[in-house]
Amino acid sequence: MDVNAPRRLAQRMAASMPGAGDEEEKSLRHVAIIMDGNGRWAKKHGVSRLRGHQEGMEAARRAVEAAKDLGLSHLTLYSFSTENWNRPEWEVRHLMGLLRQFFEKDLADLVEEGIRVRIIGDRRTLPNDIREMVEQAERQTADNKGYTLQIAFNYGGRDELVRAVSSLAEQVASGTLDVEAIDERVIGDTLDTANAPDPDLVIRTSGEQRLSNFLLWQAAYSEFIFMDCLWPDFDEAAFREAVDIYRGRNRRFGGR
Ligand code: FPP
Repeated sequence: MDVNAPRRLAQRMAASMPGAGDEEEKSLRHVAIIMDGNGRWAKKHGVSRLRGHQEGMEAARRAVEAAKDLGLSHLTLYSFSTENWNRPEWEVRHLMGLLRQFFEKDLADLVEEGIRVRIIGDRRTLPNDIREMVEQAERQTADNKGYTLQIAFNYGGRDELVRAVSSLAEQVASGTLDVEAIDERVIGDTLDTANAPDPDLVIRTSGEQRLSNFLLWQAAYSEFIFMDCLWPDFDEAAFREAVDIYRGRNRRFGGR
């Protein structure tokens, strides 16, 4: 057995990781955010949960704007998880309505600002009109040259992996893919996030310290920052604070 093979594999993997290499160690390309705390914000202010989500939507708009100023190449927002279907029907309906609103009101601005939109998650089970909106938004912004906004909607990291594994299994069964050809790159290219760099930084608001099924594969080497502020209070200053903390971190990707 070639004893140096694992080392070479690790070196190859490290070289392909976002921000790998001394100079780029602190480079920040992709930020992914778990927008948490809308409900608690609503409670704190004595208003309905729906109002909390609406204010959360405003915070999402601010983050989209700030990402441009921060020079990111990718921003991913966790908007609706595969587990969120377990919420009361009225709340699910409202969260679907917010995505509709976002595309109706903001798509023209996103096009104008050169932002590319991509939805990650299982779109097959979304209401037809939302699926069409999603596809239209992706088509209309496909040639944009600005940063990429990934909206995770009906997204779950495990669900994404299940869909990727079954797609690879189908390709093997039909003879278009060799089992031996399956490596980390092939798996990455089969995920919803294909071609996007892994997130350098994952931010979660509201003080909770969990990943909640978000980007399970992609966040393998991400830095995590948990902030106490509730999502509707998240603004550009909070975003910059997280970025400053990130820049003070030492990323080693498993090396020394
Ligand atoms: C978590 O807060 C937040 C959500 C489940 C929804 C997030 C959605 C938005 C911010 C608006 C949609 C944005 C776009 C871009 C379409 P929570 O309700 O779990 O809060 P809690 O834990 O305090 O109850």
